[in-house]
Amino acid sequence: MNERIWIMGASEGIGAALAQAWAQRGAKLILSARSEDKLADLATTLGGAEIVPCDVADRDSLGRAAETIRAGGPLDRAVTLAALYDPGKVMEIDADRAAQIVTVNLTGSFNFARSAVPLLKTGGQLALTGSVAGYIGLPQGQIYSATKAGVTNLAETMRAELAPDVDIRLISPGFVDTRLTQKNDFDMPAIIQPEEAARAIVSGLDRGGFEVHFPRRLTLSLKLMQMLPYALSLRLTRRLVR
Ligand SMILES: NC(=O)c1ccc[n+]([C@@H]2O[C@H](COP(=O)([O-])OP(=O)(O)OC[C@H]3O[C@@H](n4cnc5c(N)ncnc54)[C@H](OP(=O)(O)O)[C@@H]3O)[C@@H](O)[C@H]2O)c1
Repeated sequence: MNERIWIMGASEGIGAALAQAWAQRGAKLILSARSEDKLADLATTLGGAEIVPCDVADRDSLGRAAETIRAGGPLDRAVTLAALYDPGKVMEIDADRAAQIVTVNLTGSFNFARSAVPLLKTGGQLALTGSVAGYIGLPQGQIYSATKAGVTNLAETMRAELAPDVDIRLISPGFVDTRLTQKNDFDMPAIIQPEEAARAIVSGLDRGGFEVHFPRRLTLSLKLMQMLPYALSLRLTRRLVR
């Protein structure tokens, strides 16, 4: 396998594990995130990869990254996992931090998608990362979950507009043990390690379909909850308030 793949959010967590998994099958990787030092360390661990540091919230930085990547030829896949998260209740979180979370998670996905699509070969793949947190509003979900619902909607729109020239995909992870979830002080059901998440993403993106969601023991029950009438689902989510 000689695919050329751009991973945004590769410096940490699921993105770093995904880079490991794709590197093991011989992909030519382009690793992006804000932390150049972490990307350089990862590239060394992988035995070589191109690093292109950038910030999805900054369109100029993304534009420069895209120009660098274009010079190396077309991409087979582009995936963004860049996101910020802070736990807390809506009435308690800092409003400036909430605005930053929207900018990185939702506007950042939009910016990345628009930079990456012109770099893809015909039929190439673009994957955005939502979350099961975007399926239904849960207590402590704060604005993070709303951004993930927005990313899901954005991916659906892009799929409608761009398929089949671009294979638009949505990745919806359940709980994965990374620095992001280490901020949570509650028990996370069906939590998995980043390596297991990476395996699920690699095989899910190789298959057909739109959404790659895992682990199914969590995602399927949340999908059922999403299908309930509000009179029932809101009664259930109200019970989860602590
Ligand atoms: N962990 C979970 O349980 C879980 C569950 C559902 C969905 N997800 C989603 O999965 C994705 C990966 O999560 P994770 O747990 O691996 O998080 P993580 O360990 O915090 O990694 C997030 C990555 O995003 C990068 N990033 C953050 N802001 C950025 C920006 N402005 N520009 C470019 N890169 C940026 C970070 O690198 P720098 O800080 O170096 O920029 C890092 O590489 C996220 O989209 C998250 O919402 C995670």
